[in-house]
Amino acid sequence: MDKAQILVASNRGPVSFSVNADGSLDYRRGGGGLVSGLSSVAADTDTLWVCAALSDADRKAAGGAPDGRLDRAGFDLGGMRVRMLDIPPDVFANAYTAVANSTLWFVQHLLYDTPNKPAYATGFRSQWDDYRAYNSAFAEALLTGAADNARVAVQDYHLALVPRLLRGRRPDLRIAHFSHTPWAPPEYFRMLPTEIGRELLEGMLGADHLGFLSQRWADAFLRCCEAFLRADVDWAKRTVEYGGRVIEVAVHPLGADAEGLRERAAAEDVAERRAALRERVGDTKLIVRVDRTELSKNIVRGLEAYRELLTTRPDWRGRVTHLAFAYPSRGDVAEYREYTESVKRVAKEINAEFGTAEWTPLILEVNDDYPRSLASYQLADVLLVNPIRDGMNLVAKEGPVLSHDGCALVLSTEAGAADELGGDAVLVNPFDVSETAEALHTALTMPEEERRSRCERLVERATAMSPQRWFAEQLKALDH
Ligand code: G6P
Repeated sequence: MDKAQILVASNRGPVSFSVNADGSLDYRRGGGGLVSGLSSVAADTDTLWVCAALSDADRKAAGGAPDGRLDRAGFDLGGMRVRMLDIPPDVFANAYTAVANSTLWFVQHLLYDTPNKPAYATGFRSQWDDYRAYNSAFAEALLTGAADNARVAVQDYHLALVPRLLRGRRPDLRIAHFSHTPWAPPEYFRMLPTEIGRELLEGMLGADHLGFLSQRWADAFLRCCEAFLRADVDWAKRTVEYGGRVIEVAVHPLGADAEGLRERAAAEDVAERRAALRERVGDTKLIVRVDRTELSKNIVRGLEAYRELLTTRPDWRGRVTHLAFAYPSRGDVAEYREYTESVKRVAKEINAEFGTAEWTPLILEVNDDYPRSLASYQLADVLLVNPIRDGMNLVAKEGPVLSHDGCALVLSTEAGAADELGGDAVLVNPFDVSETAEALHTALTMPEEERRSRCERLVERATAMSPQRWFAEQLKALDH
């Protein structure tokens, strides 16, 4: 008998590339929950992963995207086939940068600066057409690869229209869609052009099963279905009836991959980074943050809170260091470039204001270095995670897992992770700089025993839903 088939579709694929001396491409497996989840079932199933995007580095490595060399019938990656789509660059730019990252991401993270933005002016509708074309390209590739009754796991806001496109052509497929972001309440979601908001919701409702990271996001989605589609929501069962079908809406709170993390963190390069960091910060206490430089991560207010801590509690001067790792992200979006500049500016101001010959209050690093991030988790006394809004935030879950001496976690109420970790973290309103400064002080002065026992409970909850279990749950939901 043929093996059961699982298809996955996501914008960013599970591989990164380098170019060999002869111009050929080499690839290696990337990280993330989805890669771990799918790998764990790859041996027993026939799996195909359809993806499009190349990171900036990959794009350069491939000599500019897209690259015909990548649009293969599928190459093998540890038992799973991967197919990278050859999306024309202008279509990709409109779908990924203009629609997904500059519009949908802003809506779901409540990021608009409303007196000026959004303004859907000339050009937006044609960018939307490219978002449709991009979604269609995925649907076509999946349809070509799909056996009867195959299970399809579609990922995130880039591909909201795919479930409906598949459903229309292949009612036999069992389709799941998972949102890795928050979902906006109707009062905010209505900022999208009306017909586009409806098209997105209807697109997702083509699935059988819709997954979210937190009950808050799932409920906001259901409220949008009621408000904009007049769909029937059964709030007890958390199902939506629409177009004669019943769609399940569920929460699957992805956890840290404890085993994978611990194994990676045991490597020599992490030990080297750890020694170098310790040398740099001496015996001061450490407040660590690790983020991609995103507007939603709230890095500037986090730095302001540190500034306020040093101002209102001068005893900390010379006794604490803030390690802030803010890695590059989405340089194609103007707001991100400006935000990166403000992060650098505030960091400079803090060091100019408080730094002495013997003490650097803040170390900001903007170059990506994964083993250094892991080393900083091992050393942190306090981990600061203060997003304005975040689907989950895996830093809040991964940091405690690797902590050597039990870190205290200062966590935003607006991160999905607060659902599970809230009880043992010091919770903050991410907009309240003063409260965050006080929370840093509370975390820094937490009695050792309390800090360690809280951290143990954080680890327990952070690892409760391994990526393998997270993915298996979604597949199981498609079985009935
Ligand atoms: C974060 C979000 C995901 C999203 C991803 C895209 O990880 O949690 O929802 O898919 O960013 O990032 P990218 O760098 O590919 O734009």
